[in-house]
Amino acid sequence: MTSDPQILFIDHTGELAGGQLCLADIAIRLRDQCQVFLFQSGPFQELLEKNGVVVALPNRESGTLSVRKKSRWFAYLGSIPVLISLVFNLVRVAKGFDLLYANTAKALMVSVPVALLLRKPLLFHLHDIIGAQHFNRINSWLLLTGANLASGIIANSEASASAYRRAGGNNRNLKVVPNGFSVERFQADVTELSEVLRKSFGDEDRALVGLFGRIAVWKGQKVLVEALAQLPQVNGIIVGEALFTDEDQQYKNEVLALAEKLGVSNRLRFTGFQADVLPHLEAVDVVVHCSISPEPFGRVIVEAQLAGKPVIATKGGGPSEIIEDRVTGILVSPNNAGELASAIKELLEDRKWAEELAVNGRQAAVLRFGLESVLKEWIAFIYRNVPTATKFRSVAASETELQTSSTAPALDSSTRSTRKG
Ligand code: UDP
Ligand code: GLC
Repeated sequence: MTSDPQILFIDHTGELAGGQLCLADIAIRLRDQCQVFLFQSGPFQELLEKNGVVVALPNRESGTLSVRKKSRWFAYLGSIPVLISLVFNLVRVAKGFDLLYANTAKALMVSVPVALLLRKPLLFHLHDIIGAQHFNRINSWLLLTGANLASGIIANSEASASAYRRAGGNNRNLKVVPNGFSVERFQADVTELSEVLRKSFGDEDRALVGLFGRIAVWKGQKVLVEALAQLPQVNGIIVGEALFTDEDQQYKNEVLALAEKLGVSNRLRFTGFQADVLPHLEAVDVVVHCSISPEPFGRVIVEAQLAGKPVIATKGGGPSEIIEDRVTGILVSPNNAGELASAIKELLEDRKWAEELAVNGRQAAVLRFGLESVLKEWIAFIYRNVPTATKFRSVAASETELQTSSTAPALDSSTRSTRKG
């Protein structure tokens, strides 16, 4: 048999956030040998289908698995019927695949029972930092238990991997693979469009800082508002939307209200979600990242570096792995508008140094996060976890120098016990 291993990627959302954009890259590369099962339709489905990836959805709307950080026990009970319905739907789709790959915590909850039932290997992509700042105790426990049962884990940063271990994670088949980025995409010439944008944001001679990413409490958009209040000569843009919860939407309203209260609303624009962030990245002088809880990876930081912009990011998590402080960007303390404002001021007053940081940042990002090398590493790990990998021969396998010796067995009780530390 010479066909390629068939992979089923599973994700809970149809929205486009970092985890989904990360998955899109590999699904598009493996489109001839994969499908993506989504719990819900949306722009993520459109992106995949536009790029030739087959998307499967539940037979009929199963409802949402709406357990959140603030959920109480009855929300979990209420989610059981939805969970069962999704499990049945996934079983139906998953039968013909050699490997299941859960891309989010909610996808993992549905994929674990399916992998056990069908005796298929299951990989989990850990995009989160497990801990009190991001999850409640029940969600942490569920995530940890699911991750421990998976055949293997890909973590998006050392920070996510260590938080998993600190929380009691014992799956030793874990590999850290960062997100990858098409360097060419961020080299495209979008000067004309970005100049138009800059003009549209007001006085084009004023400095402009940009915060990119979805709007959510932990992404800390309020910190930028407070920093702008200390920088009367600076304009700001917030690129992104409140994508997921009512709480996100409520936070957006609070950010707007704070801008009004602090007198910065005439200097701060909200652009909403942009399918292509590059023209907006090009338009700004400095990119800031303001997350108040540790960012697991932080795609927007690498994207800003690739676009050749000086970046200021919050210390901890992925940003501390991506940025060498004051060499490839600046790291500031979380939730500290004063520090953020000083760092912005420093960069705007010393444009030569800002340019040096940008050049260094770009070089480092090209070296470490180029899409091709990341995909190679990632696909090699996937192939190592297909139990019968030796019988598969493919371009992808030869390109990734497939190591067939360390194949991982299907997820069942016997293999689970051998993997415990
Ligand atoms: N993004 C986008 N349009 C927007 C705002 C953000 O396409 O208007 C993208 C951004 O370019 C990045 C991703 O969304 O690739 C956000 O990923 P990140 O890892 O920074 O944060 P997440 O939302 O996944 O926590
Ligand atoms: C998650 C994380 C983000 C990371 C992305 C891709 O959405 O919050 O930090 O960059 O996944 O791994």
